[in-house]
Amino acid sequence: MLTWQSDLYALGVAAMDAAHAEFCRLVDAASRASDEDFPYLLHALIEHTRGHFDHEERLMRECGFPALAEHASEHRRVLGELLHMANAVEEGRLRFARLYVSQGLPAWFRNHLATMDAALAASLKREATRAPADDTLPVS
Ligand SMILES: [Fe+2]
Ligand SMILES: [Fe+2]
Repeated sequence: MLTWQSDLYALGVAAMDAAHAEFCRLVDAASRASDEDFPYLLHALIEHTRGHFDHEERLMRECGFPALAEHASEHRRVLGELLHMANAVEEGRLRFARLYVSQGLPAWFRNHLATMDAALAASLKREATRAPADDTLPVS
């Protein structure tokens, strides 16, 4: 189970927090779904995750984030796992995919949030509070 808790999970960057709250909502919905509804909700989770990861990678490029390659590679790995689970469902291995979504994915999310996403949010907040270069001083 994964329930969004802003006191635990909010990083202070509104767009990232909104994406993470939606991620939690979709993981929770898929975890609670009937076997019949699970495949559809897994696809919704995969679509959200693609957008969520693309958005973070765009933020990293825009702020020149030094660990972009490492963070993006972790995103690719997890997206690959999710696609592997969608294949597993098509092959009838529903229990395997359900265990991943209800246990493996929440554990991954908490760790990724506290490490890579937290580092990105800290970098974005530093960037936002940095004083603009003062080019108004008269040239003497
Ligand atoms: Fe994230
Ligand atoms: Fe991330």
